[in-house]
Amino acid sequence: MPRTRTAPPLVSDATIRTSSYPESPRDREARQQLLDALNDQVRGCKLCALLARQRTQTVFGVGNPLARVVFFGEAPGADEDRQGEPFVGRAGQLLTKIIEACGWRRDDVYILNVLKCRPPDNRNPEPAETANCRPFFERQLEILQPEYIVCVGTVPSQALLETTDSIGKLRSRFHRYRDSKVLATYHPSYLLRNPAAKKYVWEDMQLLMRDMGVPIPGKG
Ligand code: URA
Repeated sequence: MPRTRTAPPLVSDATIRTSSYPESPRDREARQQLLDALNDQVRGCKLCALLARQRTQTVFGVGNPLARVVFFGEAPGADEDRQGEPFVGRAGQLLTKIIEACGWRRDDVYILNVLKCRPPDNRNPEPAETANCRPFFERQLEILQPEYIVCVGTVPSQALLETTDSIGKLRSRFHRYRDSKVLATYHPSYLLRNPAAKKYVWEDMQLLMRDMGVPIPGKG
């Protein structure tokens, strides 16, 4: 019988992990329980008084807790604040298209933001707000232990990599955060304003898929 080549799965494989960081459970339910407990803490957070007062709800993150790839955004907007889920507005729909262009579904990956509360008028997070949310997103990433983190936009890239470099400088190569490989690319909101930049995001996604060893749609 001919051997069929199956694509590497989109969930991470514990057997290839050699980590110096605390191990997160490999069992999906156990990992989800840790995320749920962290989400309870996030829901009760009032460290950013203004954001806590103005939010409809906190926006924690969604997706597969065993995903190999995590998409890391900036902060909830009005739609996300209303629905309690990251990336569900116009920019979110474009992010979903980017994920689908890779041949994946939204729930194959995990999606989270730097901030768990909506900043007023969608302004950029203040440094103090990022600092207040840092223990939450760092713990979330520690539980998820993704192989890859795709930072979409300047805010998550700079927050995770603790740099002031621009996306133009950071994109198109891998960085490191703990045991994860990090790719920085343009934010879908930027792409809505500058559709010509979509080709750069597609280049970055191809770099990601090649490194993951998964087939690139449209490339034989
Ligand atoms: N932009 C983000 O960075 N995150 C969202 O959840 C929505 C829009």
